[in-house]
Amino acid sequence: MNRAILSKQINKEMIEELKNDTQALLSFLQNQNDGTIVYILEKLGRLESGYSKEPLLNLLNNQNENIRALSLKNLAKMSDVSLLSVFVKYASNDKSTEVKREAVSAVGRLRNEKAIPILIKFLTDSDPKVVMQAIRGLLVFANRPGIKQELKKLLNHPNELIKEVINKEVNGFSYKSNSTQKHDEFSAFLKNTVVQGDVQEILKYVPDESIHLTFTSPPYYNARDYSIYQSYEEYLNFLEKVFKEVHRITKEGRFFVLNTSPIIIPRISRAHASKRYPIPYDIHPLLVKMGWEFIDDIVWVKPEASVKNRNAGFLQHRKPLGYKPNAVSEMLMVYRKKTDKLLDWNIHQYSWDKVKKSKVLDEYETTNIWRIDPTFDRIHSAVFPIELCNRVVRFYSFVGDLIFDPFAGSGTLGRAAINLDRHFFLTEKEAKYINRIKEELYKGNNLFSPKNNQPRFLDIKTFIPLSKEKI
Ligand SMILES: C[S@@+](CC[C@H](N)C(=O)[O-])C[C@H]1O[C@@H](n2cnc3c(N)ncnc32)[C@H](O)[C@@H]1O
Repeated sequence: MNRAILSKQINKEMIEELKNDTQALLSFLQNQNDGTIVYILEKLGRLESGYSKEPLLNLLNNQNENIRALSLKNLAKMSDVSLLSVFVKYASNDKSTEVKREAVSAVGRLRNEKAIPILIKFLTDSDPKVVMQAIRGLLVFANRPGIKQELKKLLNHPNELIKEVINKEVNGFSYKSNSTQKHDEFSAFLKNTVVQGDVQEILKYVPDESIHLTFTSPPYYNARDYSIYQSYEEYLNFLEKVFKEVHRITKEGRFFVLNTSPIIIPRISRAHASKRYPIPYDIHPLLVKMGWEFIDDIVWVKPEASVKNRNAGFLQHRKPLGYKPNAVSEMLMVYRKKTDKLLDWNIHQYSWDKVKKSKVLDEYETTNIWRIDPTFDRIHSAVFPIELCNRVVRFYSFVGDLIFDPFAGSGTLGRAAINLDRHFFLTEKEAKYINRIKEELYKGNNLFSPKNNQPRFLDIKTFIPLSKEKI
């Protein structure tokens, strides 16, 4: 029976009545199928310590592991130490890992010191989730002598989540900041600055932890005239170097949004095959290794009519293996500079007023599929649609922040930053695109009214002394 029908038949009042009448609940449960029992167990809500345990204890003998696990979960709500031996029995002997996890969690939820040796024993369980539950239970007693010592033994646990939790508990925050600047501030010499040159050269002069958000679309691999590399390996090495620097200049816990997509190098003749390069998937492991934490993948979807048609052949012959879908998507991979601090820490670095001004209060896209038309530009062949930049800027930065694009192209990100009360720092190597950026940024002629907000256009020679004086 589906849940919508069940919810009509078994309403809240009925569950409350059954909860208060043990006999009625026992006989009701006897005649129900597994789906209904699970439904009731999920809806039992609060259970006071005086509540009759019998119906739930009965269900611990049920064949269905889901029912046993949910029964343990409900029994745990009663905070009744006399249940400890029941929990230990299921934690030690049940063949279902789901039930074991729930039982160890129930032991921990007792918050009773009798549970300590049992929880310590489960720290060596082979199921990382069981270990995690045991850790959670023990953290309540973290200040007792010996407990930290037991937890420390897990510092080299093979499971990365366990290692992370233990490391934070035992050693505290591990992020070492190299900056004395406040989190919501940045060096004035970067403000609304466009530097022409090779980004690798320019970034040498940008201090650690200067940037609040980077959003970029790197040059393609040999797909367009501005991107010529000897090999795919050389291309990936280049991006790796740049993104390492982006990591260094990003503030603690802040975001990097990377727009890429697989590209295709057409065949040289009918006797050869074309080759497809999965750029997002090849860059991803490099980013994680250098200290970016993967947060989300957003798919930018364009109308089919706006992309190259690859279907002509298959449309005719319809033979398997020759299927070539039209590539209407690009990836926006969202990363955060790895830290053990939570997002709340970042938010708390801002005044209430700034947080309030930065809130996204109107309608917004709730899924990771962003349908946005591409923008075509007479000068630059691969520009960001402004809507794409607007979303990234609003979702991942605060007003007054410094937003960076190392491969600025026509500077769309700079325009979005200014329109949304942020500041930009852009680097771009081609002179013709720098001129395009000038046009872009002066489009709305009142945008830069305050003098200290005027964009400045520098080359690397004029940028270096400013970076030294930090003005
Ligand atoms: C895909 S385009 C970016 C387009 C941009 N998102 C926009 O909205 O116009 C990549 C840009 O990176 C620039 N670029 C390539 N290698 C560079 C380098 N080493 N340093 C700085 N810019 C570079 C190219 O000239 C090109 O304009």
